Amino acid sequence: MHIRGELKMIENTPKLFIPGPTEVDDKVRLMMAQRVIGHRTSEMSELYGGIVEKLQKFFGTKHYAMVFTSSGSGVMEGTIRNLVKKYVLHGACGAFSKRWYEMSLANDKDADMVWADWGKAVKPEMIEEAMNKKKYELLAQIHNETSTGVRNPTDEIAKIAHENETLIAIDAVSSLGGDMINVNNYDVVIASSQKAFALPPGLAVAFVSEEAMERSKNMKNKGYYFDFVRMLQRFEKSQQHPTTPAVPLLYAMDAQLDLMIKEGYEARYERHLKMQKMVHDWVKKRGFELFAEKGYESVTVTTIKNTYGISIKDLANELVKRGLRISNGYGELKEKTFRIAHMGQITPTDIRGLLDEIDNVLENWGVY
Ligand SMILES: Cc1ncc(COP(=O)(O)O)c(C=O)c1O
Repeated sequence: MHIRGELKMIENTPKLFIPGPTEVDDKVRLMMAQRVIGHRTSEMSELYGGIVEKLQKFFGTKHYAMVFTSSGSGVMEGTIRNLVKKYVLHGACGAFSKRWYEMSLANDKDADMVWADWGKAVKPEMIEEAMNKKKYELLAQIHNETSTGVRNPTDEIAKIAHENETLIAIDAVSSLGGDMINVNNYDVVIASSQKAFALPPGLAVAFVSEEAMERSKNMKNKGYYFDFVRMLQRFEKSQQHPTTPAVPLLYAMDAQLDLMIKEGYEARYERHLKMQKMVHDWVKKRGFELFAEKGYESVTVTTIKNTYGISIKDLANELVKRGLRISNGYGELKEKTFRIAHMGQITPTDIRGLLDEIDNVLENWGVY
């Protein structure tokens, strides 16, 4: 067989401490090299059926679990289309939650946004006030705002939404699988594979409540690819997808869920909390400051104020030379902040190593 060009593997890429994609366990990564199977076979039903069962088991829920071949944004847009005829409220506090609001507008919905400022969390009172003024079909609420490192009090917010007979969907793209989230409190919970699930990019997870499924049944113009009902019907018929899923990524997800179940939800959360605390302690000790409002700090990613006015770009480049990759601030927070993700499969030892290397660079620069 003629192969054009040379088959070359990329080697020695830096360890990822960015808020997605995150490090993938070698065993999980290698699962993707298995032979491909047909998507209308019993092997596929066994694979996808097992994944759905494991998702429900790990997260302790009977809500419908679905895995889409798309990034999280696909399901975020799909959620709007499945659940909103006209009126949707967005609880937002950063770049990603603002983008969800823009998605609603792009889908011609009558969307309003409750906006907490950069670094601040959306509070239950703010949502209550908006809901007292107008009736909404859905509250699309950010859980973990990856741009600012803010974790929103979504359990309390969900109560308010339900008291107002409004469904609630949360964007837990960068927190589900690391933070402790009770999926049963929400109508839709959305996550991406490349964050706290520690999988390569390309899959999105959605947990959908019975009420949300009922709403979707009667919704018109909801599109095809992300139709929750179509997904469910195909699953109930054959434990397969309506279209061809990314089979190698599903192999990886199956293996990763085994790792997660072995670790346990509580233990996984505790590990994330421990890493968060290590980063927070380091921030204080070194004279940096947290960007997130006190009491609302993300468990999976820390956004740090650039109090010394250093070049974050240069710091990140120095770290790459040492085999480590962190993130600059997002969008308008670039150079004003930097971000350290502590999510997925990385460990407190990895975090210690990263913080020591940052210290080393900054000491060499005479910053402290
Ligand atoms: C909070 C949040 N929401 C949504 C997204 C978009 O997810 P995806 O890139 O998987 O579509 C991201 C990506 O970083 C995110 O962090």
